[in-house]
Amino acid sequence: MTVSEESKVDSRALREAAANSAKNAHAPYSHFHVGAAALTTSGLVVLGCNVENASYGLTLCAECGLISDLVLLQAGKITELVVCSELGEDITPCGRCRQLIAEHASLDCVLHTVSGPVAVSALLPGAFSAESLH
Ligand code: THU
Repeated sequence: MTVSEESKVDSRALREAAANSAKNAHAPYSHFHVGAAALTTSGLVVLGCNVENASYGLTLCAECGLISDLVLLQAGKITELVVCSELGEDITPCGRCRQLIAEHASLDCVLHTVSGPVAVSALLPGAFSAESLH
């Protein structure tokens, strides 16, 4: 997949926003700070960070917070997504987050990875979706 020059500039800003978000993570148990930033069809950038809990299984991934922000702000669909550490190193979304992302991503949405941009649709082939309920 090729990315235009203009979108490369946006991607750098997006990575910076995600890395800054990771600095606000509440991760006293794993000490693994994750930030997420997305461009959306509304033009808004939405953000998230992981929020852990003493009851470990209640932990919210960074992508959960981001999607909550997306819905709250009525920001439409995610078109470009970065999930990374405080240092800007890409982090691959967990299975649960792939399902969450699938429902809120545009058809051409890309996730930035260490190997370059990948189509979000390839992250969860045969995803359970709203259509599956009909
Ligand atoms: N984590 C995320 O925030 N997103 C993911 O997609 C993978 C995992 C967080 C959850 C937990 O706070 C920490 O990383 C270690 O698993």
